[in-house]
Amino acid sequence: MVEKVLITQPIDPQGMLLLEEAGFTVDVWPGPEPIPDAVLRDRVQGCSGIISMLTDPIDADVMARGPLRVVAQHAVGINNIDLNAAASQGVRIGHTPGVLTDATADLAMALLLSTARRIVEADHYVRDGHWKGWSPTLLRGMELNGSVLGIVGMGRIGQAVAQRAKAFGMKILHHGRTSGCDLDTLLAESDIVSLHCPLTPQTHHLIGAQAFERMKNSAILINTARGSVVDEGALVNALERGQIAGAGLDVFEEEPTVHPGLMANSKVVMVPHIGSATLSTRRKMGEMVATDVILGLQGEPMLHEVKS
Ligand code: DGY
Repeated sequence: MVEKVLITQPIDPQGMLLLEEAGFTVDVWPGPEPIPDAVLRDRVQGCSGIISMLTDPIDADVMARGPLRVVAQHAVGINNIDLNAAASQGVRIGHTPGVLTDATADLAMALLLSTARRIVEADHYVRDGHWKGWSPTLLRGMELNGSVLGIVGMGRIGQAVAQRAKAFGMKILHHGRTSGCDLDTLLAESDIVSLHCPLTPQTHHLIGAQAFERMKNSAILINTARGSVVDEGALVNALERGQIAGAGLDVFEEEPTVHPGLMANSKVVMVPHIGSATLSTRRKMGEMVATDVILGLQGEPMLHEVKS
């Protein structure tokens, strides 16, 4: 029997080709917006595998409707997948660690540089015709050399950011589950705090009102992890009260909705969840999820199976 795979957004064509060559029937939601919930639950029926995006709620009902045997998530973060339901229904889960480390670390550095050196503000200043000539006091920002970068979550991406930041002369502190300093020390001593932990019940709103109280008034927060690691309302308050100086954000609590207090604040640099969005990384991610669906459905070891 020909097995069917649902892909909830178009992936790199190479990944599609791998699935077709392996003889699977493929149903692709055309995007570019996420597949609506009701459509996901309808179209997953009769599918053995799914290539899911981080926006799709892969819960017990979705898995049972297939019934699915394999979920391959086109992301490293898997907070949208009910792992307990997967374990009890015998569904194998794959994801895409490793291939997106450099792209995501690069984007964290881009946000770090943009906020520290006020690049977006400066761009608007020039475009809006405010520039009247060189001035010693114009748009002064934070010097990276000698500044302290506090990395929360020292996995692959956190380590890659540390490596890049060291090349800029930054001093590194880190806080992880099993290594580094405690979070309060990191928050109090860092000039820039960059988040690289997964979203779990333990890290939900890890950075909230109390954390902002501990941070330096001159500090900048960078988030390329998941929006809900930060209490967005508390972040807006902290920025408005001058408890911290700025933020560089790739991720938000209610994507694609952005808190109006962030929209209104020129000290915030925002991009639309593009951490892994380079051509070569997205190609590797597409190939990886396709390969994992094929291997998973054939009962073979997957490239990156999440152990439940
Ligand atoms: C991931 O893989 O979890 C990233 O957020 C995608 O850019």
